[in-house]
Formats: sequence, structure tokens, C-alpha cells
Amino acid sequence: MATENAQTPLLQLENVRAGYGEAVVLDGVSLSVPEGGSLAVLGRNGVGKTTLLLTIMGFVNLMQGTVRFAGRDISGAPPHKRARAGLGWVPQERDIFASLTVEENLTATARAGQGNAGRWDLSSVYDLFPRLKERRANMGNQLSGGEQQMLAIARTLMTNPSILILDEPLEGLAPIIVEELIAKIGAMAKDEGMALVLVEQHAEVALGLTDQAIVIERGVIAHAAGSAELLKDQATLDRYVGLNLEGE
Ligand SMILES: Nc1ncnc2c1ncn2[C@@H]1O[C@H](COP(=O)(O)OP(=O)(O)O)[C@@H](O)[C@H]1O
Ligand SMILES: [Mg+2]
Repeated sequence: MATENAQTPLLQLENVRAGYGEAVVLDGVSLSVPEGGSLAVLGRNGVGKTTLLLTIMGFVNLMQGTVRFAGRDISGAPPHKRARAGLGWVPQERDIFASLTVEENLTATARAGQGNAGRWDLSSVYDLFPRLKERRANMGNQLSGGEQQMLAIARTLMTNPSILILDEPLEGLAPIIVEELIAKIGAMAKDEGMALVLVEQHAEVALGLTDQAIVIERGVIAHAAGSAELLKDQATLDRYVGLNLEGE
């Protein structure tokens, strides 16, 4: 980390080994995100980025090491307890309820939250995403991909998390929606001080939205740097992230 933080990190992984059944996918992974901090997780397809988020959320087999959140060891806690403690995961698949309306999707899992108590409710998420307000009576399966992603983020905000954990939120979306989402994610991180873990194939975008970055290569952290510094380090980006710097 660029700045030494005497405070307890918000999220901390120490020497984590994790995977599926017996298969080790991540090994020796240590990272730390301070309160209000943001971390980009970069790397090519299949290197273990999603597995890292699933490890933080408690969905995969943690074989070694610890996961701490807000100073507590949550290594053994089930996913719903981690969510309740303030970890706000937005899955890559978005997992919108197809047969509920936008508004029902938002209220179904809403919660006052631990960290950010009460900041986010229907009114404030509609302020952030006016499009969702317009679409509030539409069913989940009537939304465009961009609207689904907005809904997935808004629904997680409704749990009033202290950290937002996003898995490739821009994947497959039209450029105009990508621009809008980048602005909203940036506003949350920079203006609201929402802590962020952002998995993103578009390195340039992810580095512009975050303070710190790690690059994963075959399940280990191959490089860690300040985001601004890594943005200028073309050689490292070419080596580990390759063509993804330019986007698709
Ligand atoms: N459910 C699973 N069971 C077994 N192996 C998996 C599973 N999901 C992912 N993997 C493997 O874990 C590795 C990392 O995958 P993943 O974390 O999805 O990578 P990324 O998100 O960086 O594309 C890959 O080799 C993948 O095949
Ligand atoms: Mg993935």
C-alpha cells in the first residue's frame, strides 16, 4: 500500500489459499483495503479474479490463511453473514430476479446495514440511477443489460454495505452505458468514500477508478502498485494484462 495506515484495514486477506474442492486456484494471496480505499484487481481470463471475490464472500473453500473484515476474522463465516457485516458483492451474473419488478428487486434484500447505516434507500438509489426510477414497475427480465447492471449495483447499495465488490461490471455493455456506470462508480468511490474492490478487464478504466491495484497471474499476485503508477507502467500492463488495456 502506498500510504501506511495505522488503522485497522477494512478488508484484509493474509496468505490465502483457496479453490474448489481439492483444486487450488489462489495461493499466497495477501491484500488489504483501508476504510474508503479502493483496489483494482486485474489479470487475464481464468487467472482467479472471480475466485478471489468468491473467497472474500465465503463461497469457495478457504484452505489456508485468513480473511478479516473490520478487524474481525471472518474466515469461517457463511456468505450471508459476510453480507450482513457490510460486504456488498455484485456478482458477475447480476442475478436479477426476473419475475420481480425493479422496485421489488431493490426492496427484497434491503437492509439498514452496519457500516453505512441508512445512507441508501429507494429514494437515494433512484437519485443515483434515475433510469431505474423510470423503470421501477418493469420486470427484471424486461431490462437491458445496462439497466440490469445498474439494478444489481443499486440492490447491493440497498444493503448499505461498507465496501462494494464488483466483478466485471462493464462486461458486455454498450459504450454509452459503460461511460455512465464509470461515472457512477467513480462518484461513489471518490465523493462518497465508498470502499471498492473492482475486478475489471479494462485496466485503464479500473486504474482510473481506484487507488491501489493488484495483478493476478495463475492464482498469485504477480504485481502490486498504486493505480496511478501502474497506469503509466506500460511494460507491466503489457506483460500481465496484454491487449485488455485497449479494451475490446
Ligand atoms: N466452480 C469451479 N470449479 C472448479 N474450478 C473452477 C470453478 N470456477 C472457476 N474455476 C477455475 O478457477 C480458475 C480461475 O477462474 P476464475 O476465478 O473464474 O478466473 P477469472 O475470474 O480471473 O476469469 C480457472 O482455472 C477456472 O477454471
Ligand atoms: Mg471472472
